[in-house]
Amino acid sequence: MTSIDVAGLAARLRDVSYLADRGLATALACAVAMRRPLLLEGDAGVGKTDAARAIARVYDASLVRLQCYEGLDLYAAAYDWNYAKQLLAIRSAEAAGDRAADLYGEDFLLRRPLLAALGAEKENGAVLLIDEIDRADDEFEAYLLEYLADFAMTIPEFGRIAAAHPPIVILTSNRTRDLHDALKRRCFYYWIGHPTVEREIEIIRMRLPSVSEDLARDVAGAVAILRDSGLRKAPGIAEALDWTQTLDALGARRLERRFVDDSLGTVVKYPEDIETARAVAKTFVQ
Ligand SMILES: Nc1ncnc2c1ncn2[C@@H]1O[C@H](COP(=O)(O)OP(=O)(O)O)[C@@H](O)[C@H]1O
Ligand SMILES: [Mg+2]
Repeated sequence: MTSIDVAGLAARLRDVSYLADRGLATALACAVAMRRPLLLEGDAGVGKTDAARAIARVYDASLVRLQCYEGLDLYAAAYDWNYAKQLLAIRSAEAAGDRAADLYGEDFLLRRPLLAALGAEKENGAVLLIDEIDRADDEFEAYLLEYLADFAMTIPEFGRIAAAHPPIVILTSNRTRDLHDALKRRCFYYWIGHPTVEREIEIIRMRLPSVSEDLARDVAGAVAILRDSGLRKAPGIAEALDWTQTLDALGARRLERRFVDDSLGTVVKYPEDIETARAVAKTFVQ
């Protein structure tokens, strides 16, 4: 087995505008090389979803996304039957005086994300993003265990479908609840923390190249202070980018008081947080 090239992957991620630190690049590289699912946890806006998107671009694999929510069931996640089409087939067979074709064949099968991810034709497989798994009910986790163990699915009316090329699986959780140990055991794990100020400056400059370095630096510093201020919802990288873009649009070259007041709603999103942010703004504006 060739050894895993972490620096190489980090460079390729950078090429698609995703800056991973060494820990995250290592976790991703191992997950890809060993085809083990990777569970990424972290606060909202730290780059979990985008990590999966970036990996798909790096490997030129199709991204199959399953957005989880309360009540998500197998019909939405795995497969369903096209009832309308089945009905039509029965009717037209009746009209022609024939027997209906096999109603549980390929033609009537609706491939939802978990099944679609097994069907990738490229050798790299698909990247399957199971996003915000903490929102789904825990019975769904139990189903996933089987799926992740063999990258195959048994459909009672149809048979077993196995992946020709196993997908790269990335699960994300905002940690609104703990996941089962059994699921965690199956996955590699990485906690994405908020970036350092230097990394955040780099991300802002990479994503918003027209913004001045001073402004990027000011915003990254201010956001770091805000994250330490006991807010109900700490701003993520998404908010830092929104804030910078807004400030830039307002004509700010540096983070000055008047601009802060006008733009806080792009970076904190609860009334009580706006109050707190106004109070701590004194420490980061000149
Ligand atoms: N390491 C990173 N490099 C570049 N952009 C990033 C990085 N992390 C986050 N972003 C950007 O921040 C935003 C939020 O990221 P996202 O993946 O949606 O967060 P999450 O899924 O953790 O809530 C996106 O616009 C993303 O492009
Ligand atoms: Mg996300």
